[in-house]
Amino acid sequence: MSSSRSRDNGWVPDEPGMITFNNRVAVVTGAAGGIGRSVCRMLLEAGARVVVADLDGTAAEALARELDLHGDHAAGFAHDARSSADADALMAFAVERFGSLDILVTAAGLFPPAPLEEIDDEAWRNVLAINLDGVMFCSRAAAPLMGEGASMVHIASLAGHRGAVRHAHYAAAKGGVLALTRTLAAELAPRGIRANAVSPGLIDTTMIEPVMARRGDIILATTPMARVGTPDEVAGVICFLASDLASFVTGETIQINGGLYINS
Ligand SMILES: NC(=O)c1ccc[n+]([C@@H]2O[C@H](COP(=O)([O-])OP(=O)(O)OC[C@H]3O[C@@H](n4cnc5c(N)ncnc54)[C@H](O)[C@@H]3O)[C@@H](O)[C@H]2O)c1
Repeated sequence: MSSSRSRDNGWVPDEPGMITFNNRVAVVTGAAGGIGRSVCRMLLEAGARVVVADLDGTAAEALARELDLHGDHAAGFAHDARSSADADALMAFAVERFGSLDILVTAAGLFPPAPLEEIDDEAWRNVLAINLDGVMFCSRAAAPLMGEGASMVHIASLAGHRGAVRHAHYAAAKGGVLALTRTLAAELAPRGIRANAVSPGLIDTTMIEPVMARRGDIILATTPMARVGTPDEVAGVICFLASDLASFVTGETIQINGGLYINS
């Protein structure tokens, strides 16, 4: 990567200038969310063609149009992460529309707060279905359509490493994503397909508003960098892992949390 530039008011990260995707085809789930939207934009800026998939199909279509008015490089798709049929249809759509499938980023997620005794069977199943089943269904549907050099990047969470009070279902699902990703990496490596994960800490999207309202002060006080992250700071790492710059990296997880993990 090129060296960092400095400005009068401090250091700013580079644009991902050396990352190029040369018309590679990417599917991003949960794409209308805070992180997913950044991932889509960065992938497009680096030359990928992107299927923008979300449960909210209208938002997915609108984002695709916003990012690429003519639809040559981006297309929206309604996709429920809980459905394996939707996963199959999504991957088939990517190949039909853009000719191949090279990158999968799973950003669909749900993070509802609830103490253990208030997580009923339905809530448990729903959170596991969106955050874990969805990753499995998309990976299983994508793998047969991918070739040498393809890459999956799954969004796990700090919660998957150390647990998360009032989020037992979410933490369990994200821990599952970490184990699933390592297994995918080993199984798919002989076919030249890589699988990695990122584990964000607290990133500034609507998802963390309830947590920040309840314990934001405490979290920031224990974060060495004393701030939450931006969606772009997650998207940049995802683009690195999806790119050829990471061509010998598989089965890994990159933490993105301003030091919160090592400090707690
Ligand atoms: N924001 C954070 O601090 C943080 C931290 C760790 C991990 N993550 C993970 O990052 C990913 C993106 O989160 P975000 O912060 O952008 O949240 P967000 O709420 O902004 O986006 C989540 C997206 O997932 C979509 N979604 C919800 N249910 C779905 C379903 N059944 N099928 C398909 N899509 C569905 C939503 O429509 C939304 O667009 C999630 O997997 C989340 O768990 C976020």
